[in-house]
Amino acid sequence: MSARSSNITFFVIMSMAFMLMSSTKAVFNVLNYGAKTDGATDSTSPFLKAWAAACGSTAAATIYVPKGRFLLKAVVFRGPCKSSITVKVDGTLVAPLDYWALGNSGYWILFIQVNNVTLLGGSLDARAAKFWACRNSGQSCPPGARSITFNWANDITISGLTSINSQLSHIVINSCNNVLVKNVKTYAPDQSPNTDGIHIQGSTGVTISGSTLQTGDDCISIGPGTKNLFMTNIKCGPGHGVSIGSLGWTMTEVGVQNLTLTNSVFIGSDNGVRIKTWARPSNSFVKNVLFANLIMSNVKNPIIIDQDYCPNNAGCPNQSSGVKISGVTYKNIQGTSATQNAVIFECSKSKPCSGIRLQDIKLTYMNKASSSSCTNVGGSSSGVLIPRSCL
Ligand SMILES: *[C@@H]1O[C@H](CO)[C@@H](O)[C@H](O)[C@H]1NC(C)=O
Ligand SMILES: *[C@@H]1O[C@H](CO)[C@@H](O)[C@H](O)[C@H]1NC(C)=O
Ligand SMILES: *[C@@H]1O[C@H](CO)[C@@H](O)[C@H](O)[C@H]1NC(C)=O
Repeated sequence: MSARSSNITFFVIMSMAFMLMSSTKAVFNVLNYGAKTDGATDSTSPFLKAWAAACGSTAAATIYVPKGRFLLKAVVFRGPCKSSITVKVDGTLVAPLDYWALGNSGYWILFIQVNNVTLLGGSLDARAAKFWACRNSGQSCPPGARSITFNWANDITISGLTSINSQLSHIVINSCNNVLVKNVKTYAPDQSPNTDGIHIQGSTGVTISGSTLQTGDDCISIGPGTKNLFMTNIKCGPGHGVSIGSLGWTMTEVGVQNLTLTNSVFIGSDNGVRIKTWARPSNSFVKNVLFANLIMSNVKNPIIIDQDYCPNNAGCPNQSSGVKISGVTYKNIQGTSATQNAVIFECSKSKPCSGIRLQDIKLTYMNKASSSSCTNVGGSSSGVLIPRSCL
């Protein structure tokens, strides 16, 4: 090798080493900030110190939570930060056993105004069994806390997270842009009240894929102001299904548009795909929705639009929903219904549903054709239709 080429080789190796070094991420291990793995020592302040260090880092930062159980009280991770942050969790975060510790704060783990945050792995255990028991017994209980919430956040990935036994919703995406939720699992018992799996509202560009949601309330609930939501490979049940709503509680409400749910399975859930609105005056709307390639297994209401929602008939002066539902397609939905009436379109008398399309639906009840019912709805149907279309 000539002196010249060995110089060049040396230079190339040195610059590669330099590039490797400068692209090395800053790593902030919560143990170095005093977090304890015993599940009993309060690690809230160590986690906040690790967050402050990562958030102030100009190099892309990683917060590392190793194996073990970490006790966290209600905690807020606030941005914006100087760079992107990856939170890599091998351990389990546990809430205090006394549900009053979180019960009045509304949230347990809250990320607020953060950008470019990736949460990888981890388990959350909010240990809410006593909280549900309190609510089911009619004693006076605190309003409860959501397990993990992202508020006013952009460019977020949540991957491989497991959440069990939340007080209220497991995962909440609120007023966010560009969020990917993948390979998450939620577990709470069938009868645990208001434990939605994933709740989305006021957010644009959310994707949820490859997730197993077993819980006491909606597997996915979609609130006002949700736009460009894509959901695929979801396994739902037990739970109340994938639900748009309840919408239209207020007169002025941002509507819901451009939603897709595909290639998903519902097992023993109370609903499959549901749109639910209050029977109250409102200017809200639902438009451009596609439900395609779904399997229903023993689902009580596989396909349902309910615009007459008004428990105890309280607060519904006109008994009519102002929410306009249009452009909803149901395509290739097959399986078994746990009730005779597998398709229910109960639309608003003041704002009838329009552009409702059914294509290739095959839902049986006890090995026979199921039935369908239509109120105030317009649309079309094609392909194989069991039950017979009432459109
Ligand atoms: C997020 O990260 C990407 C590249 O990793 C960068 O281009 C973008 O500016 C970042 N966004 C914010 C809001 O920091
Ligand atoms: C609808 O949402 C999808 C994501 O599901 C997005 O790719 C598409 O651009 C959106 N369409 C419109 C018109 O915004
Ligand atoms: C009440 O319902 C009727 C239809 O039954 C409708 O024409 C009217 O606009 C509704 N009023 C309000 C305030 O929504």
